[in-house]
Amino acid sequence: MLRTFAVIGDPIDHSLSPTIHNAAYRHLDLECTYIGYKINKNELESGIQSLKSIKISGFNVTIPHKIEIMKLLDDVDENCKLIGAANTIVNDNGSLKGYNTDMDGFLEPIKNREIPIRNSNVLLLGAGGASRAIIAGFAKEHVKKITVVNRTIEKANNLSKFGKNLEIKSDVIPIDDIETLNENYDFIVNASSLGLNNESNIIPTKLIDSNTTVYDIVYKPVNTALIKDSKKKNAEIIYGYEMLLSQAVRSFEIWLGQKAPYEAMKKAILGGF
Ligand code: ATR
Repeated sequence: MLRTFAVIGDPIDHSLSPTIHNAAYRHLDLECTYIGYKINKNELESGIQSLKSIKISGFNVTIPHKIEIMKLLDDVDENCKLIGAANTIVNDNGSLKGYNTDMDGFLEPIKNREIPIRNSNVLLLGAGGASRAIIAGFAKEHVKKITVVNRTIEKANNLSKFGKNLEIKSDVIPIDDIETLNENYDFIVNASSLGLNNESNIIPTKLIDSNTTVYDIVYKPVNTALIKDSKKKNAEIIYGYEMLLSQAVRSFEIWLGQKAPYEAMKKAILGGF
């Protein structure tokens, strides 16, 4: 039976998800297709109706719908409840169940490198939807403290509060004061969209050395200015495409109930640049 999957969002034309998932289906000779479907911010409900009417088997959700989609779901998993957002949906005869693979997808590349997380000190740039899943992930692994830096201070405060509710220490620094940071950070994570348009790096390089893990979730370009600067300081680098791949693998396994072909999906991602 032919099964159809999708990713919904706006913008959607830049998404690498169709490339990754279709490569997996081809590799395993599955009778599945995966499409990109643009849904505007104000048309989520009717967009979902259209997907139901074509009997979509499942879909990924990206910016700007990850939080709004929650209202349209019949059931959600524990991660969605914790984070307040969903990125992977299963359609079971018109009944929608949400999952969130961002949190574990974020953590996986850290764990693969066996980098210790417990009791570490984290600097997090950005306070959007991705940051929420990242804080939930770090809290699950019992970091000591997360410092949130963001352009909009109110959003940073909300996120910091979210962290404190998960029983980790957290403080907030306005983006204009970033040069005043002088702590020793084990992890420096960019979860803002800075870098996507080749912006220069704003994280002070005095904070980065060979003991720092620098994780940039921007995956296009592969080598952002932050990553280039961090390489010069011999930091441990985690690339944005690694998180993209880990969350895609998890989505595949939720939908298809079988092991995802990791190498074929990775090759598709790297070929997509
Ligand atoms: P996502 O769901 O991927 O996290 P988002 O919710 O749109 O996307 O969040 C984007 C993040 O990048 C936000 O933290 C945003 O800062 P604001 O909260 O101030 O909007 C940050 N960001 C985007 N463009 C930026 C820029 N030019 N300078 C600094 N931060 C920026």
